Amino acid sequence: MKFFIDTANLDQIREAQSLGVLDGVTTNPSLMAKEGITGEKNIIQHYIDICEIVDGDVSAEVISVDFKGMVEEGKILAALHPQIVVKIPMIEDGVKALKYFSDEGIKTNCTLIFSAGQALLAAKAGATYMSPFIGRLDDISTDGLNLIQEIRDIYDNYGFETQILAASIRHTMHVIECAKIGADVMTGPLSSIKGLLKHPLTDIGLAKFLEDYKKGN
Ligand code: E4P
Repeated sequence: MKFFIDTANLDQIREAQSLGVLDGVTTNPSLMAKEGITGEKNIIQHYIDICEIVDGDVSAEVISVDFKGMVEEGKILAALHPQIVVKIPMIEDGVKALKYFSDEGIKTNCTLIFSAGQALLAAKAGATYMSPFIGRLDDISTDGLNLIQEIRDIYDNYGFETQILAASIRHTMHVIECAKIGADVMTGPLSSIKGLLKHPLTDIGLAKFLEDYKKGN
C-alpha cells in the first residue's frame, strides 16, 4: 500500500518524508488556500517545491471544468516536473480529459469520486489513480469503506490497472480498513500516518526494557 500525505504544508510533507514511508503527495485548491498559497505563479512554484521534497507522485489539480481548459492546464502542470500527476474532477469533460492524458502517457488522478459507477468510468478512461472520498461519505452517514470494497471488487473482476487511491482519510482506522480491503494507495493527514505507530504496550514495554537494562549496568 502506498502512503500519500494529503496536504500543501511543506513542514508536514518534510516530516512525513523524513519517516521514510512516504510515497507521494496529494493537494487540492482548498489545501493550497489553507496554506495561504494563492495566484497561479505561487501555486506553480509550490508544486515544484513539493516535488523537490518527496520522491513519489504529486497530484496537482486543474481548475478548468471544460475539456480544452483541462488539457491546456494539465499539460502545463505535467511539464513542471516528472513527478506531477494531473488531478482531474469526475465530470463529463473530465472523463474526456482523462482519456486524452492516458493516450498521451501523462499520469492522472481522477478526483471527487463518490460512487462505484464513477470509479468504473475513471478506469475505462484510463486514469492512473482515482480518488474515492471516504471521509466525506462518512460525514453524510454513508459507508465510505463500503465504496472502497465495491471498487476493489469491480476492478478485480476486470483487471483494471487504475489504482484505488483512498482519499478523504480522517484517521488511522480508515488507513487500516483500506489496507484490509486492498486499496492501492491511501492519502491522509500526517496524523493518520503517525497515529499508526502508537500503542501503549509498546511504550510500557520499552520503558521496562530500558529500566531493566539500567539495573544490569
Ligand atoms: C484528495 O485528494 C483530497 O485532497 C482529500 O483527500 C479531501 O479530503 P477532505 O475530505 O478531508 O477534504
